[in-house]
Amino acid sequence: MRMDKIALIVGARPNFMKIAPIDRECRRRGIETLLIHTGQHYDANMSDIFFEDLNMKSPDIHLNVGSGSHATQTAKIMIEFEKVCDEHRFAMVVVVGDVNSTIACTIVAKKLGIPVAHVEAGLRSFDREMPEEINRILTDSISDLLLTPSLDGNQNLENEGISKDRIKFVGNIMIDSLYDALDRVKIREINPAKKINLERYAVVTLHRPSNVDVEEKVNQLISHLVKISRRIPIVFPMHPRTRNTFERFGKLGVLENELDIHLLEPLGYLEFVSLIGSCKLVITDSGGLQEESTSLGIPCLTLRENTERPITITEGTNQLVDDLSKLQEAVNSALTNEQQVTPRKPMYWDGRTAERIVDSVVSFLER
Ligand code: UD1
Repeated sequence: MRMDKIALIVGARPNFMKIAPIDRECRRRGIETLLIHTGQHYDANMSDIFFEDLNMKSPDIHLNVGSGSHATQTAKIMIEFEKVCDEHRFAMVVVVGDVNSTIACTIVAKKLGIPVAHVEAGLRSFDREMPEEINRILTDSISDLLLTPSLDGNQNLENEGISKDRIKFVGNIMIDSLYDALDRVKIREINPAKKINLERYAVVTLHRPSNVDVEEKVNQLISHLVKISRRIPIVFPMHPRTRNTFERFGKLGVLENELDIHLLEPLGYLEFVSLIGSCKLVITDSGGLQEESTSLGIPCLTLRENTERPITITEGTNQLVDDLSKLQEAVNSALTNEQQVTPRKPMYWDGRTAERIVDSVVSFLER
């Protein structure tokens, strides 16, 4: 079958590891793709390095939108992406995850009559104060092909009245990239913790507005992290948003002065996989990291009231810490039980999700 091109959209850091295996699988089958980077993330260590680490082709088109308020960023992406759609003939636009680039490109494509496939469809935190939850609900409600990572996603979509024939359970695409990276990091000594002679350590990542944009919460978080570091050294690769707000609240110095808290710049994918692959505990508010730690068998404490990835709790290593007063106890129990955790493999977290995604896209287009 001769097909028009498939547009693959990336914009923010967690998009790259989701699109890389899909692009590879399309090319393996001779399907032409156009890789479009919106520029939502633009620093070299938030964007460029992932193309290298994931063996990904450079973007065919860069929209260079940069940062801004939600409305500004979303609108800029829409304006620029519409021009791209006018210039090219797309059989389908493939979007991933729940970032502003995801919803912006979905709206543009749908209004031009181009079908959209949403990878990682159906996830719900049921917390509409999260910007990502709004992006998820809106993207799913208008996309044509909803590709879910776990069966709770199918159930959520059906509960919203979405017809079953738009929904396809394909598995977790992040795990395709994780398996691929694990194979490569084994043969390279790139763990940044080893470079500072740490054998036993915890990894912290935080970037959600609900944790890092509120001064009182930041103050509490910092005193907890200092306390935890007395028990186990902490490696903390810092998202630029987090560094900016901690600095604005005058709190960055407190962390920098702690001997057992090691602040790093954001890491590339391979360094990060290597870092978490050998750690004893993850403390995070990231969605992807809840999944990666489940797959690696590393205890994960998620500093949120909810998660759109409940399978990481029911079938994984994740535990929600919805109240910081419970954090020390949760750390103690995770470190006491550290021997008992084994890697988990929920259904279709098997490294072959890209194949199922491309199968679904092709059969949708043939229909
Ligand atoms: C975005 C996503 C979030 C995802 C996260 C992963 C939305 C609504 N949020 O949040 O779901 O988990 O990416 O990182 O799409 N900045 C830089 N350099 C960069 C990018 C950002 O310095 O390359 C700084 C800027 O100050 C910017 C801020 O980070 O204003 C926030 O960036 P933005 O893309 O708006 O949201 P994230 O917090 O990264």
